[in-house]
Amino acid sequence: MNKSEKFWDQSAGNYDNTEEKFEFIHRWSRENTKKYLKETDVVLDYGCGTGTTACEISSLVKSIRAIDISTAMIDIAKGKAAAGGVVNIDFEQADIFDEQFAEASFDVVLAFNMLHTVPDAEKVVYRTFELLKPGGTFISVTPCLGGKKSVFVTLQIWLVRLLLKVGVIPVPIRQLKSADLDALVSDDRFDVIDTEEIFKGASSYFMVAKKGVLPSGS
Ligand SMILES: C[S@@+](CC[C@H](N)C(=O)[O-])C[C@H]1O[C@@H](n2cnc3c(N)ncnc32)[C@H](O)[C@@H]1O
Repeated sequence: MNKSEKFWDQSAGNYDNTEEKFEFIHRWSRENTKKYLKETDVVLDYGCGTGTTACEISSLVKSIRAIDISTAMIDIAKGKAAAGGVVNIDFEQADIFDEQFAEASFDVVLAFNMLHTVPDAEKVVYRTFELLKPGGTFISVTPCLGGKKSVFVTLQIWLVRLLLKVGVIPVPIRQLKSADLDALVSDDRFDVIDTEEIFKGASSYFMVAKKGVLPSGS
């Protein structure tokens, strides 16, 4: 098990409690996402965490592959789905780069509160492009800790930076700005169809982008 998996495994038990303070953003993101889903959609939920989003949207789509590197997160997610009688989600400990995922096999890829924690967000967005069917939809929501923030959040970021420095937090927590996320999808691979910045102490950037049809030779 690598350091990142261990860190997320250790966070899993308390994850839903710690996220309660961001419930407004989570709820807003989930509600807005529902507008872009169809009952025929095959969805990949990348970094599904404890499965709240996957369970909530499950009745609106055909099926969901919900993946996370943390087995502890996946175990909690499976328990939630079982308790809710949800049967169309396949929860699995996996990474988006696993070869088991075929190119052009998903109608929708979700990356909720993920892109600021991965080593290479550009690579992830490119992989998302590969996995989406033509015209498929990429929906992300990402904390923008490099943007406007309250004094309280600024102090929290200082603490996180200290914990990163001494190795207590072993995953990158990037201080992105919305412009950084725009830049990730600014080439001709994606057409951005919706963006919204939601502010609650810090900004979260909601983005919906359609996989475009690349000109031949790209
Ligand atoms: C901040 S949580 C977000 C969870 C959930 N999407 C949400 O919005 O509440 C980040 C999640 O991504 C998972 N994760 C981190 N790196 C990953 C990777 N390379 N592949 C799959 N999952 C990953 C972590 O285990 C964790 O559950």
